[in-house]
Formats: sequence, C-alpha cells, structure tokens
Amino acid sequence: MENESWITPLLRQLQADGRERTLNVLPRAGGRFSIDGREYLNFSCNDYLDLSRDPRVLSRAAETMSRYGAGAGASRLVTGTLACHAELEAALASFQSYPAAIVFGSGCLANVGVLSTVLGRSDVVFADRLVHATIIDGIVLSRAKLCRFAHNDIEQLDSLMTRAAAARRPGFRFLVVTESVFSMDGDRAPLRALCEVASRHEAMLLVDEAHALGVLGPYGAGLVREHGLGNRVNACTATLSKALGSYGGFVACSTELQALLINRSRPFLYSTGLPPASVGAALAALEILRAAPHLGPTLLARAELFRRQLRELGLNVMHSESHILPLLIGDNATALRFSARLKAKGILATAIREPTVPRGTARIRLSVTLAHAEEDLLQAATAISEAARLEGLL
Ligand SMILES: Cc1ncc(COP(=O)(O)O)c(C=O)c1O
Repeated sequence: MENESWITPLLRQLQADGRERTLNVLPRAGGRFSIDGREYLNFSCNDYLDLSRDPRVLSRAAETMSRYGAGAGASRLVTGTLACHAELEAALASFQSYPAAIVFGSGCLANVGVLSTVLGRSDVVFADRLVHATIIDGIVLSRAKLCRFAHNDIEQLDSLMTRAAAARRPGFRFLVVTESVFSMDGDRAPLRALCEVASRHEAMLLVDEAHALGVLGPYGAGLVREHGLGNRVNACTATLSKALGSYGGFVACSTELQALLINRSRPFLYSTGLPPASVGAALAALEILRAAPHLGPTLLARAELFRRQLRELGLNVMHSESHILPLLIGDNATALRFSARLKAKGILATAIREPTVPRGTARIRLSVTLAHAEEDLLQAATAISEAARLEGLL
C-alpha cells in the first residue's frame, strides 16, 4: 500500500546491516528432529528438560483441554478463572516457596505486568545492563526513572543507588531488577549481594527466573530457592514455556502483591485466561520435576561437559555457568555465516544479533537440553570447531 512505502527502505537497511530476521519453519519443537529424513540437533530451543513432547505432559494437556475447553473464554476477573488456573497458581506458589503466585499470558506479560504495576513515575528502578527486553518494556510502561548498572556490578549499583537516594522523597520507591541466569550470556547474578544492596537502600528486588526454573535449585525451583533468599526477594517472574515445556508466565510473590496485581496489572486484567491445555501441561511438568530432582543436575552436568569440550577446542564461551553457552563471534555477518555452516552439518544454532545483544557481540547461543545425549554434544563441538576454523576464529 502506498502509505507503507517507508517499510521497504527500512527492511533493506536491516538487510544491509546483517540485522534482518526471518521466520524459520520447523516440523516440531524440541532439541532434535528430522527434516526430509535428515537428523538435526536443535541448540536454539529452550525446552531444556525435553518436556514439551513428554507423553505425561501431552496427555495432561489433552485431558485438561477436554475437561475445560480449548480456551478460557474470558479474562480472569470475568469468568476466565477456571479451577485449573487456581490449581496451577497454588502449585507454582508451593513449588517456588512463595505465599502466592499469579499466572499471566506469557513470561513477557508477567514482566510487563508486575513492573508496570509496582512502579510509578516518581520511582526509580535499577536494572542490570543485560536484563531481558520484556523487563525494559515493563519499566518503560511504568514511567519510572531507569538507571542501568553494568552487568553484575554490585559496586556500581550501590553508588547509583546512593546518588539517587539524595533526591528520594518519602514514599518514592526503589526497585532492583535482574535475571538469575542471563538469557544470552548464561552466567548468574550475584543474588546474595543484590539482596544486601537492595535492603541497605530500602529497595524492592525482582528476579526473573525464566532460565533457572526447572534447572537450578532444589527440584528446579530456581536460583532464589537455591540460595534460600525467598524471604528477601519480593517477587520472582518466570515462564512456563522454557523448562516446563508449556506456555504462559507467572509471578511468585506475597499475597499482598498478588492482590495488587489482580486489581491493577493491565496485562492480567485485560487478557483472556491461559488456555487450559497450557495449564495442564505446566501442572504435569511441575509434577515431573517434583518426582525427578535429578533432571536439573543432569542437564547442568551435560552442559559442563560441552563447555569443557568447547573451551578445550579454544572457543570463547564467555562466562557461561549454566546450560546456556554463548559462542562469542563479534560481527553480524560472521555470526550469520557461522550459523549457516552449522546448519549444513545438522546443528541448528541461531545467530543472535543486536538489539538482542549489544552491538559487536553477535553470538551463537547454544542451549543444551536433555534431548542432547553426550555423543550429540561431541558431534556438535566438532562441527562448531570446524566452522570456527573456516571463519578464522581458531
Ligand atoms: C529472561 C526472560 N524473561 C522473560 C522471557 C519471556 O518469556 P515468554 O517467552 O514466556 O514470554 C524470556 C523469553 O525469552 C526471557 O528470556
């Protein structure tokens, strides 16, 4: 259409910068599958525990859907709260050891919903430089002042908070926000130190456990639980769509904060309740985790093996200390070529470029899942080192 003539030059510019994105249609989810008879290992999938196609998850999803319907039919405050939603919220609260939990349409909506509710224009939020885009979107919507501190830099956070405290009036809120396992770097936040700084400055603390849930902590309850900090972290957000293999998001918090979110959080208020199939799938995944506390440690041990193999080959996996391993490349064009070379060898690993990661740090983000056996990791490491050699990175 004529009034859309501005779009084509913009897309051309993205292409020229190596920043154009296109959809890649795959036959199914999960860490491995075949296309036209050829086996692929998928290292760009967040189905960390390989639960998205687990028969127990699938049958509970189908059962819950046939009992309650394909859709919830209304927003949660109207008639869209079904018994399965209440059951899931109770299960999540107990799993996370928080007094309450509230489910949102996605992890994105959970972050946007909680941040835009607990912060207002007089408040200040201190966010790690590398937090997820959905955290930034929630902050922008809240109209709070945003101060970003260098990644995991507690001293800088402390000094920013000290400076901001000079202009703080009674009732003005401070909030510190981080991820527990960083989505694109695979390293962890220094949660204990963050708790100390936040409490010294009378600030709330919010932790996004999207990549830790199901993997770290007892039974996969996350890094906050691993450190026993639930009574010092106001709220944890997480997603049902990564290790739990389903879809949706949630906030684990106090009953007071839960009530506030129910009353004020717009993504909760103005959106239909989560589809019952997703609720059933998440409930089954939580039961699997409770019965199999070894899943997270098994995944972490496999990731450690892979990390060691890659480092021994001379590859830079940055400060990874989880099942997420970034392979630092640098420029967009090389990262795209690298990804294409891997695909030709049966390894799917998407190139991650700005704005998802800072300019000049384009990378291949590798996530190990339980669908990857040890021999798969060895095969992938060999393919990666060959691609690195061809690109002059080794
Ligand atoms: C750290 C983090 N938080 C939140 C989200 C959003 O979760 P969802 O995919 O459920 O919207 C993601 C997903 O990519 C994430 O990596």
